[in-house]
Amino acid sequence: MSSRKIVILLGPPGAGKGTQAKMVSEKLELPHISTGDILRNAIDAGTELGKKANKFMHKGELVPDEIVFDILKQRLQSADCYPGAVFDGFPRNKTQAKEFLELTYVNEASSIKAVLIDLDHEEVVKRLSNRRYCPNCNTVYNLINKKPDKKIDGDYICDKCGTKLIKRDDDKVDTIKNRLRVYEKSTAPIIDFFQKKSIFLTVDGDQNVQAVNQQIMELLNK
Ligand code: AP5
Repeated sequence: MSSRKIVILLGPPGAGKGTQAKMVSEKLELPHISTGDILRNAIDAGTELGKKANKFMHKGELVPDEIVFDILKQRLQSADCYPGAVFDGFPRNKTQAKEFLELTYVNEASSIKAVLIDLDHEEVVKRLSNRRYCPNCNTVYNLINKKPDKKIDGDYICDKCGTKLIKRDDDKVDTIKNRLRVYEKSTAPIIDFFQKKSIFLTVDGDQNVQAVNQQIMELLNK
């Protein structure tokens, strides 16, 4: 049995999971697996799975576990996942957490660390209502602290590829508030589950991106 390095980034919407997962995956040379990104790609591609998922994502509800596990298991079959992966936005409830730990992918020799990026709800709403992203190269911006350099005809443009930036469909204030309710009800209970398994760590998400990353890397390297 081979050893795998499994890093799970947990946290409320907008805590910085995607931002940090990208950095951690580059540093550890592991793939970044975001179930949210995979589902959004399916929506953009207009697939049947995307149409099903959109009904839930649009409202800020969780996509059913069967759909999530189908896409996840498919992703984990890729050769790049063999040494491990950085999971962003998965697992999302206790059922997903339990089933994940039972997958053959997560074998006994794996090193598993679940890191909570903690952030209060007020800051979440501020960050997400100011998030913009590039639909072409997926670069994520923030109109408060990571503003794009250029505007053309009143629209912000991606610094990297010049595409007009857009707002995520679920980054409307009412949907953000529902995502936070869903997080408290369904996702936060995972903390207790991971704590009991002694694989739980936590960082303060209310610091700049580099400081959060430094804390995460220190915890992962301990
Ligand atoms: P998902 O895509 O996972 O969204 P989320 O968990 O709500 O998290 P976000 O992507 O909104 O935020 P983030 O924490 O990644 O923050 P980011 O780095 O972008 O899920 C979307 C939906 O898909 C769910 O609602 C659900 O419907 C479905 N789904 C996905 N996975 C599922 C699953 N497993 N089961 C069921 N359903 C599932 O940062 C946010 C902003 O803040 C950016 O503008 C960024 O630039 C800025 N920022 C980041 N870090 C900092 C910092 N330290 N300081 C200041 N600003 C910062």
